[in-house]
Amino acid sequence: MANESTKPVTLTTLAKMKAEGEKIAVMTAYDAGFARLVDESGVEVILVGDSLGMVVQGGDTTLPVTMDEMVYHTRAVSKGRTRALLIGDMPFMSYPNVDTALANAARLIQQGGAQMVKLEGNARQAEVITALAERGVPVCGHLGLQPQYVHKLGGYRVQGRERKEATAMLEDASLLARAGADMLILECVPALLAEEIAKCVDIPVIGIGAGNRTDGQVLVLHDLLGVTERPPRFAKDFLDGRADGIPGALRAYVEAVKSGAFPGPEHTIE
Ligand code: KIV
Repeated sequence: MANESTKPVTLTTLAKMKAEGEKIAVMTAYDAGFARLVDESGVEVILVGDSLGMVVQGGDTTLPVTMDEMVYHTRAVSKGRTRALLIGDMPFMSYPNVDTALANAARLIQQGGAQMVKLEGNARQAEVITALAERGVPVCGHLGLQPQYVHKLGGYRVQGRERKEATAMLEDASLLARAGADMLILECVPALLAEEIAKCVDIPVIGIGAGNRTDGQVLVLHDLLGVTERPPRFAKDFLDGRADGIPGALRAYVEAVKSGAFPGPEHTIE
């Protein structure tokens, strides 16, 4: 019989956690073996991120990642998880218009086993999000640093430092929530802005490099296990110095997210 800790996580679970102020822990995974360990660590959500283009394939950007690759890795992860909600990332140029987005989201769900899809891009994605939501596809938006826009942004840099930029991000967050998004990821933004956005929308807001006052945190698996050669400054190696190995490190991350200990000031952009 399923209890709270073995019951599959749904959108209702996440909405309740936000309402009750319980932090949501999210990790990436890219294969079945790690998906099982990540699932057992107690995370609520597993993201098969297109970050795999960098941490698995060794690229400098996420741009070369294809739909076929995302389906392949999402399917592998879906075989390893039993409890956590599974998000499949829509790679670069896989959602340039509504029809293409619907077809590719259907692949992630039907062939990959995803339960939610994630896409980058500000207010311009509202139409695509509404079309997906109306057809029963849960969607996670992604604001702040959007790696698929790296060439437009001129590098991987903090977003929302200027008041004008911050106001636009707040408006975009509200718009995406109204369009039908069920969750938002905020990457590399000042902590105060992330807190403001989390308070102003009623969907869970998950931060990465966005301080500890969002509704939860996401971290790339390779960053939290110290595998990444040059990890971002907001990441922490949870395996460093531990005697209980990878499962212990994954559990330590979940506990630190739940208690608010991670990210600490040294991993926060003010
Ligand atoms: O691709 C990814 O793993 C992501 C996270 C960094 C949020 O988008």
